[in-house]
Amino acid sequence: MKAVVVRPPKVGVSIEELKEPEPEPNKVKIRILNTGICGTDREIVNGKLITARPPNGRDYLILGHEAIGVVEENCCGFKKGEIVMPVNRRGCGHCLNCQIGRPDFCETGEFVEAGISGLDGFMREYYYDDPKWLVRVPYEIKDFAVMAQPLSDLEKSLEEILNVQKRVPIWTCDDGTYNCRKALVIGTGPVGTLISLLLKTYGFEVWITNRRELNDMERTIAEEVGLEFYNSANGYDGLKEKVGRFDLIFDASNAFTYIASQVLPLLNYNGILGLFGFPQSGQLSLSYAELQSLIFRSNVIVGLVNGQKPHFEMAMVHLAAWKTMWPKTVKAMITKEVPIEDEKEVKEVIMNKLPSEIKVKIVWSK
Ligand code: NAP
Ligand code: BGC
Ligand code: ZN
Ligand code: ZN
Repeated sequence: MKAVVVRPPKVGVSIEELKEPEPEPNKVKIRILNTGICGTDREIVNGKLITARPPNGRDYLILGHEAIGVVEENCCGFKKGEIVMPVNRRGCGHCLNCQIGRPDFCETGEFVEAGISGLDGFMREYYYDDPKWLVRVPYEIKDFAVMAQPLSDLEKSLEEILNVQKRVPIWTCDDGTYNCRKALVIGTGPVGTLISLLLKTYGFEVWITNRRELNDMERTIAEEVGLEFYNSANGYDGLKEKVGRFDLIFDASNAFTYIASQVLPLLNYNGILGLFGFPQSGQLSLSYAELQSLIFRSNVIVGLVNGQKPHFEMAMVHLAAWKTMWPKTVKAMITKEVPIEDEKEVKEVIMNKLPSEIKVKIVWSK
């Protein structure tokens, strides 16, 4: 069977013939339909992700943590032909959070992540999985359902942000929603796009930034969804003058080390800064005055990572809603489909982001 293989921290990716997986009792046989490529995959193949590692005792890892597949045989509550998406992070088996299905808050750090850390991923033709890690995909969204995995990370992140903000006696608005709150999203890749849609769905006023102009695709999305854009090529002072401070700043770039000092003064009283993108280089340096301001304004900085099964389920519901609410956006998000047979192109799109890319899908079977 074909599989996409990496040997972290070595740079590069290969497509190799591996042995078909052996049937396992009470596990569902899945034929992979599509896999998505995300910023993390590119960080792995370029040797930049410090947590990337093969399963114990091996020197290679099957890549891929965004996938949908079809159930091949009736098993354990699933029927042949159902479309499913696997949850990518799996618990350590020891801590209480992992035992209750929330390895996103694992306390030992001994969790594994398919296609990233210590567990084979989904860029392969077939595999067997425990039904507890499978989420049903509504047929109507199957063409773009691969976005539900990255969206699950963001559903969890927003849930966490709203939970953290419960520290403030009132952070909702006078109609009980968030529509008086301003959010700034840094970066316009798939993560920046998905969190912007989610924040709009929750009622936030959403500003997106990049240090360049939006491309046509990004502009179409911003117009349909109602996102405001600011070009930060010359820093963020102009944004502060124009809009004032933000209640939520969400970093969806991989460059926060370089922009922290410019962005932090934009955080409002009681505001929260969510760090989601993995910086690839640089050193974070804040002056004493910048830190005093953070304290004085009761700010929170929170690291946000990984969504779990309840978040995958919410992601399916939101994708189904967005298909009707923002049809052009949902269509625009799948930039390209590359068949696995086209090995050269598959390797190319895994190594390098395409111009105007939001999501590239590898098609394994139809
Ligand atoms: P991506 O496609 O590389 O997107 C990054 C975006 O940031 C791009 O739009 C990029 O612009 C923009 N950018 C780069 N430098 C910037 C700067 N100085 N100011 C403003 N924008 C800047 O990656 P992605 O798939 O959206 O993922 C984003 C990050 O989240 C990655 O680091 C990824 O590993 C991480 N991630 C984290 C989690 C988690 O659970 N915490 C989950 C998924 C992904 P260009 O298009 O011009 O390059
Ligand atoms: C995945 C997350 C994962 C994170 C850290 C992301 O690309 O989508 O689910 O927890 O990387 O490895
Ligand atoms: Zn990812
Ligand atoms: Zn754990």
